[in-house]
Amino acid sequence: MPGSLDVRTQYDSIGDEYLRGFEKYDAESRARSYALLPPLTGARVLDIGCGDGTDVAYYLSQGAIAYGIDPSSELIEKARRKAPGARLDVGVGEMLPYADRSMDVITSTYALQTSDDVPKILSEAARVLRPGGQLIYSSKHPLRQFMEKRSGAMGGVNYFQQDIVQWHIFGGAVPLSEPSHTLQEYLSPEVLMRFDIRHFEERSDFPASDRAGNDHYPCYFIMRAVRR
Ligand SMILES: C[S@@+](CC[C@H](N)C(=O)[O-])C[C@H]1O[C@@H](n2cnc3c(N)ncnc32)[C@H](O)[C@@H]1O
Repeated sequence: MPGSLDVRTQYDSIGDEYLRGFEKYDAESRARSYALLPPLTGARVLDIGCGDGTDVAYYLSQGAIAYGIDPSSELIEKARRKAPGARLDVGVGEMLPYADRSMDVITSTYALQTSDDVPKILSEAARVLRPGGQLIYSSKHPLRQFMEKRSGAMGGVNYFQQDIVQWHIFGGAVPLSEPSHTLQEYLSPEVLMRFDIRHFEERSDFPASDRAGNDHYPCYFIMRAVRR
């Protein structure tokens, strides 16, 4: 089943290799997301899919009251060491254990793509953000997932059907799987009703990942939206 616990907790088993690779390859896309952040002093900031807490530690260093949530208990253990002083929870973005309107900023880096229910995570983010609060996230581009589906397929491929896509990162070293998505899952009527989108950027650099074929197409996108 797409989005099953297996897909969500695959980061447990690939943990260290993944973290080393992520640090090496993705510093640039991380910096790009940081550049979109508002001043964090005193702000309540939640990272959905906080992994080993690299981003959460950065938010603490900027004076934030930092929170992180991740389904991988191993990564949360690491995050506790890297970001002491943050509230860190084992859990998923689809069911956030935080009160309505309790956050000023929510961030997420390549976590939404792993969910089989992106609209649910975005709906939870809308519930937990205060009016005027900001959601800043990056996720794998649906067009890229479509390319990945196509590269392994013999027959026709359906963009609109949610399939599990297998792919590799870090020069083929780390295999991952995730459900495919459509762009309208990220831009659903509910999202458009509850958020003002202030920044949307399609990036064609493939910092960590293998490109499917030699075509030029977006790898991920970055979004900044303000809660109405
Ligand atoms: C690229 S990592 C995030 C990196 C992290 N922000 C950092 O500071 O390095 C993506 C994370 O999303 C988590 N994840 C996967 N599915 C999730 C879900 N449904 N809800 C929340 N987190 C999820 C994974 O366990 C993984 O740690």
